[in-house]
Amino acid sequence: MRTIVKVQDLHHTYLPGTPFEAISLRGVDVDVVEGQIVALIGPTGSGKSTLIQHFNALIRPQRGKVIIDGHDLSNGNLDVKALRRDVGMVFQTPEQQLFEQYVGDDIAFGPRNFGFDGTEVRRRVRKAMEMVGLGFEEFKDRLTFSLSGGEMRKVAIAGVLALEPKILIFDEPTCGLDPGTSREFLCRIRELHDNQGVTIILVSHNMEDVAQLADRIYVLVDGETVLDGTPRQIFSQPQSLRGYDLDVPQATQVMHGLRSRGREVRSDILTVCEAEEEICRCFGFAEGGGTGVT
Ligand SMILES: Nc1ncnc2c1ncn2[C@@H]1O[C@H](COP(=O)(O)OP(=O)(O)OP(=O)(O)O)[C@@H](O)[C@H]1O
Ligand SMILES: [Mg+2]
Repeated sequence: MRTIVKVQDLHHTYLPGTPFEAISLRGVDVDVVEGQIVALIGPTGSGKSTLIQHFNALIRPQRGKVIIDGHDLSNGNLDVKALRRDVGMVFQTPEQQLFEQYVGDDIAFGPRNFGFDGTEVRRRVRKAMEMVGLGFEEFKDRLTFSLSGGEMRKVAIAGVLALEPKILIFDEPTCGLDPGTSREFLCRIRELHDNQGVTIILVSHNMEDVAQLADRIYVLVDGETVLDGTPRQIFSQPQSLRGYDLDVPQATQVMHGLRSRGREVRSDILTVCEAEEEICRCFGFAEGGGTGVT
C-alpha cells in the first residue's frame, strides 16, 4: 500500500496581516493510499475546498507539508504542469468552466495543451466521453452551451478525464443534480476507480454518497482533522458527528432510532439495502422483492 497523498500539519490563512484575515487550516493531517476512495466531510467553512486546492497547486503550503505522488508542493521549482497531469480537479459546478463552442474542442483542450498529437487527442476525447456516458459521434459537434446542466457537467468531467490523471478530486460532484443523474455519476466514479485504478478524493455534504463510495473518511472541523476512519467507524458515532453539525446517512439514523427503542438491530448499517435486510431479519419478515435501492 503506497501513500499517494500525504498532508502533514498543514496550515493556511487567507489574506494574512489584513483586516480580512481568515484562518482556514490549522494543522491538517491526511494520508491517501493509492487506489482508495477518500471522502472529506465537514461543516460549511471547515476548510475542505482550501485543502483540496493544495492538491493541484492552486494554493501552496504556508506551513506544513503536502506531498502528491512524489511532488513536494512546497518546492519552489515544482513542475506544476506535470502535477496537473497527474491530479485532475473537478470543481463544484464545473460546467461554469466550459468555454469552447463545441463539446469535442472543450474536452480536447487539456490534451492539446499538453502537446499530444491529433490521433492521441482524438483517442483520449473519445475514451473520456465514453467514460462519462456521452456518445462520441452524438455529442462531439454539439454546441457546448446548448446542453443541459447535467450534460455540461459530464463534458467538464470528460475534459479532466482526458488527461488520464492518477488522482481525481471532486468537490461536491452531485450538488444540484437530480437523483437519477446523481446515481449515474456515483456509478461512473466507482467505475473509474474499479476499472482504471484511479485514486479518488471526494468532498461531499451528502452522507449517502460518502457511505456508498468511500473506503476512508476524514472529518474536517474548523480547519482541523477531528476524526478519520472507515465509513462504518465514522458513522457509528452519530453523537460526535451531530456535535460538529454533521449527520449520518438516513439508513443509519433509522437503525439507531430502532436501537434506542430497544430493538436489537445492527447500528453499523450504511445503505437502504442493508437496512432493509437488517429490518427483515430483526422483525422476522420474509426477504425477497425489496426496494432495489442501494
Ligand atoms: N478566497 C478567500 N478569501 C478569504 N477567505 C476565504 C477564501 N476562501 C475561503 N475562505 C474562508 O476560509 C474558510 C474555509 O473555507 P473553505 O471554502 O475551504 O470551506 P469549505 O469546507 O469548503 O466550505 P463549504 O462546505 O461551504 O464549501 C472559511 O471561513 C472561508 O470563509
Ligand atoms: Mg467548499
